[in-house]
Amino acid sequence: MIEDVEVSGKRVLLRADLNVTFEPGTTRIADDSRIHASVATIELLRSRGAKVVLCSHLGRPKGKIVPEMRIEPVRARMSEVLGADVRYADGPVGGDADQVVAALSNGDVAMLENLRFDSGEEANDADFANSLASLADIFVNDAFGASHRAHASIVGVVDLLPTYAGLLMRAEIVALERAVDSDERPAVAVLGGSKVADKLGVVKNLAPNVDAVLIGGGMVSAMLAAQGQSVGSVEVNDDELKAARELLQDTIVVEKLHLPTDVIVAEEFDQDSRCFETAANAVPKSGFVLDIGSRTIAAYVAAISSAKKIVWNGPMGLFEWEAFSGGTKLIASAISDNESAFKLAGGGSTVEAINSLGIAGAVTHVSTGGGASLEFLEGKTLPGIAALHTIRERSEW
Ligand code: 3PG
Repeated sequence: MIEDVEVSGKRVLLRADLNVTFEPGTTRIADDSRIHASVATIELLRSRGAKVVLCSHLGRPKGKIVPEMRIEPVRARMSEVLGADVRYADGPVGGDADQVVAALSNGDVAMLENLRFDSGEEANDADFANSLASLADIFVNDAFGASHRAHASIVGVVDLLPTYAGLLMRAEIVALERAVDSDERPAVAVLGGSKVADKLGVVKNLAPNVDAVLIGGGMVSAMLAAQGQSVGSVEVNDDELKAARELLQDTIVVEKLHLPTDVIVAEEFDQDSRCFETAANAVPKSGFVLDIGSRTIAAYVAAISSAKKIVWNGPMGLFEWEAFSGGTKLIASAISDNESAFKLAGGGSTVEAINSLGIAGAVTHVSTGGGASLEFLEGKTLPGIAALHTIRERSEW
């Protein structure tokens, strides 16, 4: 384990997922939770005298230098959070990274430029991986959020340096394994978000090991449409319909599936629109289903309150608009109020909802992964985690 390694005076390449979101059209960080989540491992290494070479991707520049995807805002924020100057270094190929790293003292931190500015990162190119590895003596992977990518900084360097999992990586894996595999019962999966197709694998993988799958969010329209019911003005595309039908044909899923019995319908797709509550099987021909209704909330709250394990991914409605935030808020507070359950929450907009409601502390584990958490919950093998498998088996991870 990295805590047991003598890192003093060693150069440690630390891969983190610092892929933060910016306020639209700016490079002002909208949500810095991934930066905060990465601090524990950085501080551990610094306090033990390591020279930390921090690296991450940012956005999807596809092997080109894209000025608005430079790492600078992340470097600046990390310096603030650590209360220490994080030095800037170019990418590992052809820049000043060698010199910057050579000038680090014990406990210092440098941050490499956006790894994806070089096409070698996503291609898991051997030369790129070698250049990264040449900057360090030890590799620590703490980038759980990027562990579903078989990229050079995630899998390529593992064979080139003594490798360890970071504290966040280990915490994520332990929590997600518990969410998927433990036999704590009753267990409830609360799944929302906009697309059924995105959650299809999650529902199918979780259903056998939970007692109830509670559905909300934009998925509701597709599920209603698949049952042949009116969904008002919402257009449900073929992929969505296909995914919803697939769920309704899966006998294990159907046994556990709970769909809203009532919903909130907005007359216009507008946050100030007039809205009303109606039975889910009585949505008028025009209007938009934007939240779950009060009877549904009461039923979902009852299931959540008696659960011993809760897995939450995706808001229950268009919570960014106040009039349609009731479902998400009440479900979130029911999750927060259940003090005896193991509670895992994940997914970009779920984390946003949790942060805006200020209940992060009331959840056992908030995953920093978006796609990575989903793939884990789907039961897929994540390349970045598979690459750590051997060290984990030796209990050295
Ligand atoms: C994420 O934001 O989910 C991760 O940082 C991975 O980003 P990617 O989907 O661009 O690989």
